[in-house]
Amino acid sequence: MKNADFLTGITTSGTPHLGNYVGAIRPAVETSKDPALTSYYFLADYHSLIKNDDPKKRRQSALEIAAAWIALGLDYDNCVFYRQSDIPEIPELTWILTCLTAKGLMNRAHAYKAAVQENEEQKQKDPDKGVTMGLFSYPVLMAADILMFNARKVPVGKDQIQHLEMTRDIAARFNHTYKKLFILPEVVVDETASVLSGLDGRKMSKSYNNFIPLFDTEKRLRKMIMKIQTNSLPPEAPKDPESCTIFSIYKAFATAEETNALAARYREGIAWGTAKQELFEYINEILKAPRKRYDELIQNPGDIEAVLQKGAVKAREFSVPFLDKIRKSIGIQSLV
Ligand code: TRP
Repeated sequence: MKNADFLTGITTSGTPHLGNYVGAIRPAVETSKDPALTSYYFLADYHSLIKNDDPKKRRQSALEIAAAWIALGLDYDNCVFYRQSDIPEIPELTWILTCLTAKGLMNRAHAYKAAVQENEEQKQKDPDKGVTMGLFSYPVLMAADILMFNARKVPVGKDQIQHLEMTRDIAARFNHTYKKLFILPEVVVDETASVLSGLDGRKMSKSYNNFIPLFDTEKRLRKMIMKIQTNSLPPEAPKDPESCTIFSIYKAFATAEETNALAARYREGIAWGTAKQELFEYINEILKAPRKRYDELIQNPGDIEAVLQKGAVKAREFSVPFLDKIRKSIGIQSLV
């Protein structure tokens, strides 16, 4: 197996939603099909430990996320699709990198700083209240995910840019201290990928609980779409498509022509109920076949497991010999 041209991880918490699809899954599925590229996609289940302590939910989320990626067409034969916890070399590398990571660098991580700030605002005596070492050193585990496969490019959301800077910093320190083994990975923030608004108009996100699940039943999908908040303009009043959540979701799925046609109808005046119905019909058509495949996969977790196991074998073709090289370069090796 070759090192990664592209690599990205998906934390196994929550249920995949429409925002995940247009922001991360759809572009990754496209890349996964390119025979000229080696792309690695993995379920970041160790990362999920910092957010959730319910084993059942963790397993369920891994199942749903893996099923969603496969159902939406991930080319798992061409790419490398695996589960982080099936690659024991990653936590080993994490410790090696931890010993090279300046604590001061981790002090500056956004997620950690936000936790401290919240404690300070709530006048907690201990600014680190509720902060685990997992949250604190999360960026080191992420660096290990990336460096383990010497990834060149890492497509992520804007919130992850700092983690990539930290990864480069840690890699450079390793290269300087021991041996030049690591490529400094580049962050790829896909500006063309759509950022969806959720039911309340804020960014669609698990943490705002304003998301529309990808693979609910048809009936539930319709119900969720009908819940999208709108203003109280009467049906005949001209409406601004650009500030409308219904329109923004439609735009993320439809062609430019179809989008322009809907925009024209907004300006003429369209009833919110009609716009929602159009959106439902459009998305439902796209999701119909993948939904069927998804439901089958959820019923047959063994099929998903087999895909992940094959992925782990491919990934370890790279990680086992590479970790061996890394260990030798730091003097962790046999005495003879
Ligand atoms: N931290 C990423 C997120 O929350 C997920 C992730 C874990 C990841 N390891 C990674 C992304 C390695 C890219 C590369 O979205």
